Amino acid sequence: MTLLTASEKHRHWKGAPAISRALAILGCGVASALLAASLTARPAKPDTAASRAAFLNVYRVLTSPRCQNCHPAGDAPLQGDDSHAHLQNVKRGKDGHGVYGMRCDTCHQTANLPGAHMPPGNPKWALPSPEHKMVFAGRSAGELCRQLKDQKQTGGRSLEGLLNHITNDDLVGWGWNPGEGRALPPLSRSETVAQMKIWIEGGAACPE
Ligand code: HEC
Ligand code: HEC
Repeated sequence: MTLLTASEKHRHWKGAPAISRALAILGCGVASALLAASLTARPAKPDTAASRAAFLNVYRVLTSPRCQNCHPAGDAPLQGDDSHAHLQNVKRGKDGHGVYGMRCDTCHQTANLPGAHMPPGNPKWALPSPEHKMVFAGRSAGELCRQLKDQKQTGGRSLEGLLNHITNDDLVGWGWNPGEGRALPPLSRSETVAQMKIWIEGGAACPE
């Protein structure tokens, strides 16, 4: 370390407050920049209340007749806006497509048949398999919410997979094109997808 000359000392001591002022200002700037960065960079806190509320809207769709009629608690599909048991003693069967001699596609074609009380149709018309019954009917909102997060019950489907299924699956789409004399679900398909996204992005919170 060299000794400072008188004039250097003078400059040094005179300069110090200016430097510390500058550092103080800079420091302050850095601190506020960091604060701003931390506020913007921090991922938005999951909105649990919004998530739960959104699930209740999705739940209204899942338990509407058009959806729950194929997601019954027992082994018979349900029919009509009052979700009564399917006539003709129709049963799920080993693969969800009915039992021998009473297969779904005996009556259900690839498209809706015109006229009231005629069989609705879709190429994939069936119940979920006995291994993954995917029961919606009779489930409380909390029960169904937890079920949909349990991959043992969804057949390995993730939340993203569920969203994709609701968004794109053709058989789900039938619910909004159900043929004559059948009520539509309470939300449109795009509203349902939007509510499902809010549910998932908010942490997939479940009602009690
Ligand atoms: C013997 C003919 C027949 C067979 C077999 C049959 N269905 Fe149906 N199904 C009908 C008819 C007819 C209707 C329309 C009833 C009405 O609208 O009153 C219907 C309606 C339904 C509905 C109600 C749709 C709604 O939202 O109201 C579901 C769900 C359904 N069938 C599922 C199945 C499944 C799954 C199978 C196979 C496991 C199957 N059906 C086998 C004749 C049949
Ligand atoms: C004709 C019968 C039928 C109708 C009507 C139907 N579904 Fe399904 N649904 C199925 C079958 C079969 C599966 C299983 C298929 C699979 O896993 O790919 C399924 C699976 C699902 C799943 C996946 C559940 C899980 O646990 O992985 C969701 C979500 C779903 N359906 C929603 C709906 C909605 C929403 C509607 C009404 C708009 C609807 N479904 C109407 C037959 C039906």
